[in-house]
Amino acid sequence: MSVPALRVSGIAKTFGGARALKGISFEVAAGEVHGLLGQNGCGKSTFVKVLAGFHAPDPGGTIEVFGKPLPFPMPPGAFRDYRMAFVHQHLGLVPTLTVLENLRVASITARRARVNWREERAAARATFARFGVSLDLNARTGSLSQTDQALLAIMRAAEDLRGADGPGLLILDEPTPFLPKEGVDRLFALVRQVVGHGDSVIFISHDIDEVREITDRATILRDGLVSGTLTTKGSSHDDFVEGIIGRRIARSVTAPAVTRGRTLARVTGVAEPGLDIPALEVAEGEILGLTGLLGSGYERVPYLMFGAREATVGDLHMGGKTTPLRSMTPKAAIAQKMALLPSDRPGASGVPGLKVRDNMLLLELDDFMGRFGLNLRAMGRRASALSAEYEVRPANPDMRLGQLSGGNAQKVLLAKWMIRNPDLLLLDEPTQGVDVGTRQQIYRVIRDAAARGAGVICASSDAEQLADLCTRVLIFSRGRIAVELTGQDITKDSIAEACYGHSTLDVA
Ligand SMILES: Nc1ncnc2c1ncn2[C@@H]1O[C@H](COP(=O)(O)OP(=O)(O)OP(=O)(O)O)[C@@H](O)[C@H]1O
Ligand SMILES: [Mg+2]
Repeated sequence: MSVPALRVSGIAKTFGGARALKGISFEVAAGEVHGLLGQNGCGKSTFVKVLAGFHAPDPGGTIEVFGKPLPFPMPPGAFRDYRMAFVHQHLGLVPTLTVLENLRVASITARRARVNWREERAAARATFARFGVSLDLNARTGSLSQTDQALLAIMRAAEDLRGADGPGLLILDEPTPFLPKEGVDRLFALVRQVVGHGDSVIFISHDIDEVREITDRATILRDGLVSGTLTTKGSSHDDFVEGIIGRRIARSVTAPAVTRGRTLARVTGVAEPGLDIPALEVAEGEILGLTGLLGSGYERVPYLMFGAREATVGDLHMGGKTTPLRSMTPKAAIAQKMALLPSDRPGASGVPGLKVRDNMLLLELDDFMGRFGLNLRAMGRRASALSAEYEVRPANPDMRLGQLSGGNAQKVLLAKWMIRNPDLLLLDEPTQGVDVGTRQQIYRVIRDAAARGAGVICASSDAEQLADLCTRVLIFSRGRIAVELTGQDITKDSIAEACYGHSTLDVA
């Protein structure tokens, strides 16, 4: 048998007193796509950072890459000598740089000579040609779609591998949570090309269907240990769920059709480029899903209603008041008891450098203001209680938000909004990057809010999530509401059918 791409033996990592990895061992065969799965905070990204030399593991374990043992600590950038390349969680692109600069940054900084931009440009074009992708080299990276940014990050990493002699190992830490289905398909085509060149890939994702589609085998971590390695072909969805959370879960059935309550909020007359909504309303107790293909416009609605996105025309009617959307502001929205949980895009929804405590209580500071300033001790107590209630792990409100795993950070931000008991809860991809167990927990919080009469609007590209959660779903096509599904008619398939049936031209 050939040398495995990766052989991990007894790797542990402790942060302060907390053991994120408790001694994991597994192998990635040469030429395979290997999944790495597990609940939020189980140590996936920590392991990736050990491979990259960003964290040194606790003494004792060993890692061999293509038969060569890694030294610990590893010098910065040395992972290249071991034929590894990475796409870290949140992609690691610099949004203010151009596509060209991001693509060529590694080779430019490695050379230390004057940059010949003509050559760089030619090299970038050659890369694009090889992968059959075309992006504007001069575009600011931050202005690209999420899909294009993910493709760029992966092409850059794949290029890093080409410099090496011999096959390499490409590590992708959750590259897909922002992507619509079309984006995932394009990315998988790229992964297959990489494997076609003889390289191996580690693919981290919470999406079991994706893992089953692209991987050959998958290793599952649970509580800092390996709970098992599955051969993808021959393993069912439930086998994966059981590996991840330790038991099977009953598939949640579609919520029974409820009689609709009173109208809680209505938007009318929205008309802007690519979006045309004469009227859209949500009732008390209703969980309204919004979906469609990429570019169909549905994902803008929560931000427009919250005043987090500039509008020109249209009105919001709520609580007996009519407000022109163009004069809505987040501050006014909060005063009207609205809450917006943006999707977990880097920096969009929380302040990574601030403590969990401060992120959670950012909107409640008035309540903690005493004669001598903020009562930090009371804030700490409140934040601890909330961390326990929302099962944030670790439940330590003094940690910085950026030190939490992605899914746990999402729980902190959900808590931040839910403690305000919003009347209208606006969500954008609420369970992006969240594991199957936590997903159920977030659903429960959302259902509880609806049960006490709040209206919920949930923009999501995940048909299964909409089917599990929503009492009504609107499917957008080219900026308009094309299909409405209610009650028993809401299924994963009916949603997908409505999305694809209505337009294939939305894809930019
Ligand atoms: N720099 C750090 N300092 C302290 N604790 C850390 C640090 N980095 C990670 N941790 C902790 O290590 C544990 C594992 O986190 P990690 O980011 O590896 O999880 P993950 O499996 O990638 O989760 P997710 O699916 O949510 O991304 C968590 O409890 C996290 O809070
Ligand atoms: Mg992670």
